Amino acid sequence: MAFVPRIACLRPSRTQTQLISVAIGGAGRRNSRLSLCRATHGTASSTDAGVLAGSGVPLPPPGSAATSPVWRSSSVVEKYAKMPFTRVTLEELLQMGETHDLVSSARFARDELPKRMARRVKALQNLPFIVGVNPHIKSIYDLYHDSLGALLALPEPVDGPSQAVFTEELRKLVGAHQEVIPVLAKGFKECGKYMTKDAKTMFLDNMIHARIGIRVIAEHHLSLATPSPAYIGVVNTRLSPAVLITSVANYVRDLCELNYGGVAPEFVVAGHTDTLIAYIGVHLEYIFMEILKNAMRATVEFSSRTGRIEHPPVEIVVCKSDEEVVIRVRDQGGGISQKDLGHIWDYSYTTVPKYDDDTDSIFDTQARMGMQAGSGGPMAGLGFGLPMSRIYAKYFQGSLEIRSIEGYGCDVFLRVPNILGSSHVIED
Ligand SMILES: Nc1ncnc2c1ncn2[C@@H]1O[C@H](COP(=O)(O)OP(=O)(O)OP(=O)(O)O)[C@@H](O)[C@H]1O
Ligand SMILES: [Mg+2]
Repeated sequence: MAFVPRIACLRPSRTQTQLISVAIGGAGRRNSRLSLCRATHGTASSTDAGVLAGSGVPLPPPGSAATSPVWRSSSVVEKYAKMPFTRVTLEELLQMGETHDLVSSARFARDELPKRMARRVKALQNLPFIVGVNPHIKSIYDLYHDSLGALLALPEPVDGPSQAVFTEELRKLVGAHQEVIPVLAKGFKECGKYMTKDAKTMFLDNMIHARIGIRVIAEHHLSLATPSPAYIGVVNTRLSPAVLITSVANYVRDLCELNYGGVAPEFVVAGHTDTLIAYIGVHLEYIFMEILKNAMRATVEFSSRTGRIEHPPVEIVVCKSDEEVVIRVRDQGGGISQKDLGHIWDYSYTTVPKYDDDTDSIFDTQARMGMQAGSGGPMAGLGFGLPMSRIYAKYFQGSLEIRSIEGYGCDVFLRVPNILGSSHVIED
């Protein structure tokens, strides 16, 4: 059934898919001012692109398994992977956006992205051989490797026309990376058993964290090129957590009704509902979606297990201080058992019964991840919702915690730094 997300209505100028594509993260060092001028122009050369192209194959279609040798070692990957990053904080994104200087923004993206892409290529090269040859993992490797080559081949943005060419090509590259997470999830579902839990967690944490950083930088530039009111690049400077979570909760209720035969709990939003913050909306949207799906699923399933007739509402509270905004989501879904509690942050850990592996296809996985991206699908099942949400929350120094009362319900606390508060003054 076609399912139109209501949330898309919040920002008519962008599609839901584009918005979700922004959702990505990486640690920023607070107070380290980002200077566009600091970017070392000229480090990315077309000669480097030529070396990469000579070692590999043309850019494969997004998500396709390429036929190249397993690893295409190159000095270019080594060179860029060793270069230090420029850390990016929310404050710095705002500062960068306020200059409205598209050429500088493009040059920053062109200098910064190859270093980050090269590190991902290296990380994929360092996977155990048997994992790296999995067709899904291999296709991700090829995508990153060839995107690095494509980035390096782009002309240096020095004026309006060259900036426009760069921006257009960057937009295509961002689109080509849309399916990375579902494809990775599929790959690790097939061959994650060949790695220890810690190694797998570290790889996926780093990969998802780095992907957020890459996409924030890319999308920030793309958004600056197509400005919308109240936005500075990807940052919504007048984001209402209460309005956003209401919209997401309505969407999740619809999803819940689709999944449980017309049944879904109500919800209430209370507290400092008029609070406005500056934040990347899609990051919050993603986290709200995952928390609320879990809460509503737990509520409905606990009612069914215990014979409860009325579903208690999910209670949402927004609370603002100078330092942070806290969003608490409380459900009466029976809580989490001690046995499960130690695993809920593990990738692929889910209490949804296993579906039939034989009939599983990439489309099943994509449907599940589509659900995670807010485009409809089941309420749960991949075991990626909580670990990914926590990476998003922590990306800009926030946090995500769960308190469970077994037999009763859960409280989820999302802390979002309030960069408009007194201690996060945006410097000139
Ligand atoms: N509010 C909650 N109440 C009860 N159990 C919960 C709650 N939130 C999470 N859980 C438990 O934690 C597990 C992991 O949650 P997570 O969101 O990571 O994965 P999932 O919901 O199973 O799948 P998906 O990746 O589709 O979200 C869930 O399967 C569920 O057992
Ligand atoms: Mg979930």
